Amino acid sequence: MLRRTLLVLFLCTLSEYTLAQNADEWWRDTFVYQVYPRSFKDGNGDGVGDLNGITSKLEHLADLGISALWLSPIYTSPMVDFGYDIANFTNIDSIFGTLDDFSRLVAKAKTLKLKVVLDFVPNHSSDKHAWFPKSVQKIKPYDEYYIWKDAKMVNGTRKPPNNWLSAFQGSAWTWNDQRKQYYLHQFAAGQPDLNYRSTALQEEMKNVLRFWTNRGVDGIRIDTIPNLIEDSRFLDEPKIPNTGLPDTDPGTLQHIYTADQDETYDILKSWRQVLDSSNGTRKIILTEAWTSLSLTMKYYNYGSNVPFNFMFINQLNNQSSPLDFKRIIDRYLNSIPQGQQPNWVVGNHDSHRAGSRYGEQRADQIPMIAAVLPGVGVLYNGDEIGMIDRPLSWAETVDPAGCNAGPGRYNVTSRDPERTPFQWDSTTSAGFSTNPKTWLPVHPNYKTLNLAAQKSSPTSHYGITKQLVALKKDPIIRTGSTQLIVAGENVLGIVRRLDQSRTIALLINFANKPITIDASAWLNIPTSMSVLVASVGSKIAPGIRVNTAALNLPAAASVILK
Ligand code: NOJ
Repeated sequence: MLRRTLLVLFLCTLSEYTLAQNADEWWRDTFVYQVYPRSFKDGNGDGVGDLNGITSKLEHLADLGISALWLSPIYTSPMVDFGYDIANFTNIDSIFGTLDDFSRLVAKAKTLKLKVVLDFVPNHSSDKHAWFPKSVQKIKPYDEYYIWKDAKMVNGTRKPPNNWLSAFQGSAWTWNDQRKQYYLHQFAAGQPDLNYRSTALQEEMKNVLRFWTNRGVDGIRIDTIPNLIEDSRFLDEPKIPNTGLPDTDPGTLQHIYTADQDETYDILKSWRQVLDSSNGTRKIILTEAWTSLSLTMKYYNYGSNVPFNFMFINQLNNQSSPLDFKRIIDRYLNSIPQGQQPNWVVGNHDSHRAGSRYGEQRADQIPMIAAVLPGVGVLYNGDEIGMIDRPLSWAETVDPAGCNAGPGRYNVTSRDPERTPFQWDSTTSAGFSTNPKTWLPVHPNYKTLNLAAQKSSPTSHYGITKQLVALKKDPIIRTGSTQLIVAGENVLGIVRRLDQSRTIALLINFANKPITIDASAWLNIPTSMSVLVASVGSKIAPGIRVNTAALNLPAAASVILK
């Protein structure tokens, strides 16, 4: 008896300890929301989104219930890569506004209990950054701020030092005639790679973090972290045979020397320390790494709270079966280190929209999975209203990833389709701008697909997403057990159970025809449950009670029962 009491006491203390330890981790069991500033809301009518536009729409994000907004880059930039080429890491580009505008945004966000997360782009600067010409001139310590290499002379002709390729096609090296050397750029030529073997550079970037935390920022999303460090031998990367891709495409090489190098993790740790020593709330770190499962997990150990899980973008698609979903999700969940939270990225500015990847009928499916599974969900602006890609012609294409691929292949690589303006209402330019001409064209479906049309309907994409965001706070979702079950051939079930009497179940029909199943038997759930949320088009009314022993799931429908 005494032993049992002691054990119960010990377990209570343990869980209280874990709760206390995690209490300041405000992002736990929430949705984080990505704002792509150029496309969110234009406050001054120039056709490009800006900070005042975002500030004017913060109530929308508070209404949605997300914990934090992550802003894609807002810094001074020549916009070669639409802000990911930064000419001044500690100032705001005039197209977006001023530092004062930023302070107003942060202040209003605080009053609405929203956290603000900035994009930290440490791998490269713009070639228009003040450091670059100093590096060209070999002025110390800037001479070593970038990666410079001598040319390789082949039969008297100057060639790049090795075969490394840019993510945006072609050699990753550009010749500089003044310094008489090549510089490395893993992205556009206007984005020279920074050299993390320079301690002076490392210190500069820590100061960038200090600058923004002093201005009230609650965390960072670290851009393309695996590319920070390159192998110092500068050897050719091995070719992948028979890719069917042109030789200029980075998909033809195994990036064993330009990505995932061991020193990367220590750099992350040093940034964690900088953020931890700042005042105010605990800071979140989200890391962008398109890498293996084991290396994704490794980021947790070095200070990332949300090493992005891109499985719904790069591993699963509209051809995947319920078994594929189960296998990949289970494997991921089983790999999460003790005490850490999983995360689920629904969409981002580099990937086709969820509604286009999975089909409009299934647009709610991925947000629903992200809500029902434990951990953090990550939404991209527009996901909440079911926005879809807007295909662009070659003439309309502006993304360097598309432009560099040329007219024959731009539509495979361009990210413009998922970056079109947010559709607020059915007025001029979807209410995004007073200007009828916007930096990317508005999707023509905006007259019917817009926030205003969805806002007050609980069965719209918006109404559903709002309920999904709220669901993250449900104790069953926060602490219940998780089980994925394939029921028959076409249905995936995700069951969350807190105890005998508290169950939430998500059921997804992968078939394009209606299915009736005995979900109570397959999933071991009560025979009578009520509908919390059902996908748009399913025509299942929220609130009704259903008999799960003969559950009717319309074609491609998803439903959450409690
Ligand atoms: C990843 C960003 O998400 C993408 O938009 C950008 O082009 C590259 N990193 C380079 O910064």
